[in-house]
Amino acid sequence: MRIFSGIQPTGAKHFGNYSGGFRQYVATQEQGEAFFCVVDLHSITVDYKPQELHEATLDLAAMLFAVGLDPRRSTVFVQSHVSAHAEAAWLLGAVTGFGELRRMTQFKDKSDAQEFVSAGLFTYPILMAGDILLYQTDLVPIGDDQRQHLELARDIGARFNARFGETLKLPRGIYPEAGARIMDLQEPDRKMSTSTGSEMGKVLMVDSPELIKKKLMSAVTDIGREVRRAGDKPGISNLIEIMSVASGEPPDAIEARYDGSGYGRFKADVADAVVEVLTPIRARYLDLRSDPGELHRLLAEGAEKARAASHPTLTSMYERMGFTR
Ligand code: AMP
Ligand code: TRP
Repeated sequence: MRIFSGIQPTGAKHFGNYSGGFRQYVATQEQGEAFFCVVDLHSITVDYKPQELHEATLDLAAMLFAVGLDPRRSTVFVQSHVSAHAEAAWLLGAVTGFGELRRMTQFKDKSDAQEFVSAGLFTYPILMAGDILLYQTDLVPIGDDQRQHLELARDIGARFNARFGETLKLPRGIYPEAGARIMDLQEPDRKMSTSTGSEMGKVLMVDSPELIKKKLMSAVTDIGREVRRAGDKPGISNLIEIMSVASGEPPDAIEARYDGSGYGRFKADVADAVVEVLTPIRARYLDLRSDPGELHRLLAEGAEKARAASHPTLTSMYERMGFTR
């Protein structure tokens, strides 16, 4: 069983990334041969600063190890270290429809927010499809916001197979049961996001315990006082999801436990649960980040393994498409 996921080195990672990303990566690495990629090539599709990309790449790599990815078990690497990714994206462009890319909601949202809309932002899903398809991936652990991109990757793979012969395995997305879409703490009708929302709206992976408590205690809640999920209670529903992710308890059990107890105690307990999860991760992260030599060594090892694993698929793609080799 092959597992693949990617995460962008843009900005500070938050609890939504923990829920839809990191946490699932660690769980799935037990199930087979897993590849986790810091997708730096994706990050240049919106305005960015080269020096920040450099640091953010190392930050994110350290975070992947800090959350519990084990370099002996999983392959953790940087996308630009393995040239097959850029090549696969170009080849797959031949079987991707302009109309398909135009329908991507993430493109619509992100392009609205940019003054300069790059061609790369539009073709971004092809690069992502290549990431996944190069490894003959079975499972892709992701958050809900990536569902449409994953479906497109399957369509692109199927079209390649139909046109050039069976070459690529079609992957399946896996989404967490609770916490597939963590919402902003201040504006619970939009997702917690690196690029939008206020500082107080997101708990960062590296926030101090004091700051985590402050952010969760001042999270926007709703009228009423019952701790239960409901369409008209987006703030409390989100905190229940966060509690479920942090404590591992199902949302129903959380609702039952806080029946009749009001918002105050519940929020304090959510904060404690989140602090408990993030504190050891933060300590390991700071440790790793202070040793860039070790980090570079681990990433070079990952790149080597990723090159070997992706090479056969890229070669078959070139051959089937009729290139001379
Ligand atoms: P990104 O930081 O955009 O590269 O996202 C990395 C992973 O985190 C992807 O699998 C996303 O689906 C997931 N993710 C991002 N934001 C959220 C959120 N608010 N809730 C749950 N998962 C998320
Ligand atoms: N587009 C994904 C995101 O923004 C990141 C990503 C790139 C990815 N390539 C991938 C996720 C391959 C899963 C598999 O979150």
